[in-house]
Amino acid sequence: MTTKIAIVMAMQAEADPLIENLRFCHRPDLVPPGLPFRFYTTVYGQQDLLLVTSGKDPRFQVDNVATVPAALMAYQAIERCAPSLLINCGTAGGIKAAGAMIGDVYLSKDKICFHHRRIPIPGFWEYGVGSYPVIDSAAIAAALGLKRGIISTGDSLDLCGEDLSLIEQHGAIVKDMEAAAIAWVCYTCKVPMLAVKSITDLIDKAAPTADQFLDNLALASSNLQRQTVAILDFLQNNECDQL
Ligand code: ADE
Repeated sequence: MTTKIAIVMAMQAEADPLIENLRFCHRPDLVPPGLPFRFYTTVYGQQDLLLVTSGKDPRFQVDNVATVPAALMAYQAIERCAPSLLINCGTAGGIKAAGAMIGDVYLSKDKICFHHRRIPIPGFWEYGVGSYPVIDSAAIAAALGLKRGIISTGDSLDLCGEDLSLIEQHGAIVKDMEAAAIAWVCYTCKVPMLAVKSITDLIDKAAPTADQFLDNLALASSNLQRQTVAILDFLQNNECDQL
């Protein structure tokens, strides 16, 4: 039986190796009017895949990264193909003290949180943190030898203010700029979600995040592509009762 899977990725450079390897076809005809996103489709074995990337900001000519475009991309992907699983693939920062290394590929575990939505009013604090559900990735991680960790999302690449302390309070090992926004859409639309994050930089290391990110983007994107294909293979060959 065919399965529909949506893959949402913020940066074109992160997505290009996957687009090439799985021979995704660019589908400008699927893009809703006025949106900058790029849609791609392919059939991989028994899987109908829809990949959405964020496209470029017309003024700054850079990818539309971070939470606002990510939520809209996720919603458009769900609207377009009603997937049984949405996978958010991308790069991320990792906590070295918790065992993260450059080039590691992590699967989401337990929940995805925000560390940039601080609302110190009863009830709103927990809402701000989010703690959205993800599928149980234990079997995939065990089969492929991947690490798993809680992901925390904020709209900044570097750390500011209380970020690190909040990330640690959430028990997170991985810091990104999209996963929690996408997880909110999946939770709201009742679509199971998995995040796959490849580490470009270590957030508890002195070297500037942006320098580490640029130095390691190609390695991380290549590892991300390889492991995403392995995950799709795993899903194809194993019954997954959560989907
Ligand atoms: N993507 C890659 N590295 C990141 C970091 N340190 N924080 C947020 N998003 C990232």
